Amino acid sequence: MTQHSVCPPTESDREVKGLHVITWGCQMNVYDSARMTDVLRPLGYQAVEAPDAADMVILNTCHIRDRAAEKVFSELGRLRLVKETRAAEGQRTILAVAGCVAQAEGAEILARAPYVDIVLGPQTYHRLPEMVARAARAAGAVIDTDFPAEQKFDFLPDAQAPQTPGGLTAFLTIQEGCDKFCSFCVVPYTRGAESSRPVESVLREARRLVETGAREITLLGQNVNGYHGEGPDGRVWGLAGLAEALAAIPGLARIRYTTSHPRDMDDALIAAHRDLPALMPFLHLPVQSGSDRILAAMNRGHTAAEYRDIVLRLRDARPDIALSSDFIVGHPGESDADFEATMQLIRDVGFAQAFSFKYSPRPGTPAAGAPLQVPEDVKDARLQALQALLRTQQDAFNDGTVGRVVPVLFTGHGRKPGQLSGRSPYLQAVHVDGPDALIGQIAQVEIRERYTNSLSGTLIQERAFA
Ligand code: SAH
Ligand code: SF4
Ligand code: F3S
Repeated sequence: MTQHSVCPPTESDREVKGLHVITWGCQMNVYDSARMTDVLRPLGYQAVEAPDAADMVILNTCHIRDRAAEKVFSELGRLRLVKETRAAEGQRTILAVAGCVAQAEGAEILARAPYVDIVLGPQTYHRLPEMVARAARAAGAVIDTDFPAEQKFDFLPDAQAPQTPGGLTAFLTIQEGCDKFCSFCVVPYTRGAESSRPVESVLREARRLVETGAREITLLGQNVNGYHGEGPDGRVWGLAGLAEALAAIPGLARIRYTTSHPRDMDDALIAAHRDLPALMPFLHLPVQSGSDRILAAMNRGHTAAEYRDIVLRLRDARPDIALSSDFIVGHPGESDADFEATMQLIRDVGFAQAFSFKYSPRPGTPAAGAPLQVPEDVKDARLQALQALLRTQQDAFNDGTVGRVVPVLFTGHGRKPGQLSGRSPYLQAVHVDGPDALIGQIAQVEIRERYTNSLSGTLIQERAFA
């Protein structure tokens, strides 16, 4: 059930106002920024490229690693100058800080940056119009970092248009929050308890995205495969059931989901990778460490052997599946042997792509106060070794596609005239020479060459999907 809390615009609201949104962090923030833009549209706000043309600036922040707050304050310092310059010209600028730093450090932001008008946490974006109205009445700063009982998705308008240029690939948040409390992570504190959107609400938004041009949808959630939404039949649906229903939407050619947790990789979802051609054979499945001792200290809830077993079962179900992962080096207590276990897991599994980070103590998380913190220079050395290994694997994976024919979804123009750019099932950027008419379509491409971060190829056959 969806209700829209957005009031129809009044006469005075109709005047067009500039909105500039700066987005940091994960794809869920990208999605949220688009939703905040949607919710402000009825008030007359339209996206503008530069903050100095904006009547409202939203800084959508991330708290996951390193000096998040300092980065926010330095950006706010810059925006303060913009606000002052505009004020000197008689123009008002509403400055809002949203996202995970706002949630974690809202009061501190208002204390240190009193020129900020609105601070809002990720669960209260549907209340933004009301906050803007209050800020516009100059009633002082507005702060809203509640975890309200109402689900924000019940009150936000559905996505109007896909978020990527050309609108062919879109994000769709289906699940939010996290109850897993990994030792190192702020997400359970900034995004609150895990909750899933009802199936119908997701399907409706997906159909809308497809109608407005999306060919590929990436389902988002901090634990997206822990999805447990209420189905139209009154039962709880998992991600496998949801993916099956999405795959039946005509015109939706590709489905992805991120980020998954190994503990929630159930049999039904593994089977869905076998049964649903629309489910892309590329999975981001963070493991963080290959050492059981460290996995336990991280509170990940699985062992390295269990992770390897999931990978085997996935490859059994979908032999061409490629894997991506996240790694943390230097979690408190990580010894050389623990680190070597991570290197061994990487060698055993083989990743097509990965993200890796030095452990960064986050205030308020259990690991931040744990003994045996790993010195910075050790973290540096481990990160370097790990990234070198992962780079070798990524290059090897990309080299492995050279000479193969892969279906490419064309999303736009390349840099050179006459060139198209698109993405393979493995999220590789692919460039070919081809006609504009292929944009929005999937065509078979023989991969010819591998560059550092992209591939080039030639068209084999033009195959459009209805
Ligand atoms: N929900 C996802 C992760 C979301 S955060 C999962 O469970 O896998 C994205 C990534 O940031 C994590 O996978 C982790 O590798 C990294 N990360 C999170 N907190 C971190 C910290 N304190 N220090 C370093 N890396 C961190
Ligand atoms: Fe953070 Fe762990 Fe939750 Fe992922 S599963 S969001 S790493 S607490
Ligand atoms: Fe960052 Fe919040 Fe996403 S901390 S990674 S923006 S959930």
